[in-house]
Amino acid sequence: MLSAIRPKIESIVKSEDVEINMRLQQICSLLREKISYYDWVGFYFKNGDKQELKLGPYSGAPTDHTIIPFGKGICGQVALSNENFVVPDVKAQDNYIACSINVKAEIVVPLFVNGENIGQIDIDSNTPDPFNREDEAFLEFVNKEVAKIL
Ligand code: SME
Repeated sequence: MLSAIRPKIESIVKSEDVEINMRLQQICSLLREKISYYDWVGFYFKNGDKQELKLGPYSGAPTDHTIIPFGKGICGQVALSNENFVVPDVKAQDNYIACSINVKAEIVVPLFVNGENIGQIDIDSNTPDPFNREDEAFLEFVNKEVAKIL
C-alpha cells in the first residue's frame, strides 16, 4: 500500500539536520526500494531562467538526460502542461526520450511551489502499464511535502 509510505516521506522532509538535496535523495531511494514497479525515481527542476529542466537527486541507473528542453519528452511536456502525465506504454509515445531499453512505462507529476511549476518527480517502470490513480495521488502528496522545503 502506497499510503503506508506517507509517514516515512513526512519524516524525511522534517529531518532538518539533513541537507535538502540529501533528503530528496533519501525520498528517491525509499520509493525505489519500497515500490517494486518503481525502477528509476528522480526529480527534475527548472534550470534557473532557462526553458529547460535539470536533473536533481535520483535513484536508479545514471541517465544521459541531465538537461531536457521544455517541450521535449514526457518531462519537457509536463514542464509546459502543468499536468500529470501517465504513460502506460512508452512505445506508443512519439515525443519520448528513452533512458533505458528496459523501461516500459513512465509517470511524471509536476511539483508546485506557491502555484508555480518548478519541477517534477519522474518514475520509470520496467513493468508494462503499472500506474493508476493511487500512484498519481501518492506522488502529488510526495511533491506537496517536498514543496515545503524548497
Ligand atoms: N523519459 C523521459 C526522460 C527522462 S528519463 O526517463 C530519466 C522523457 O521522455 O522525458
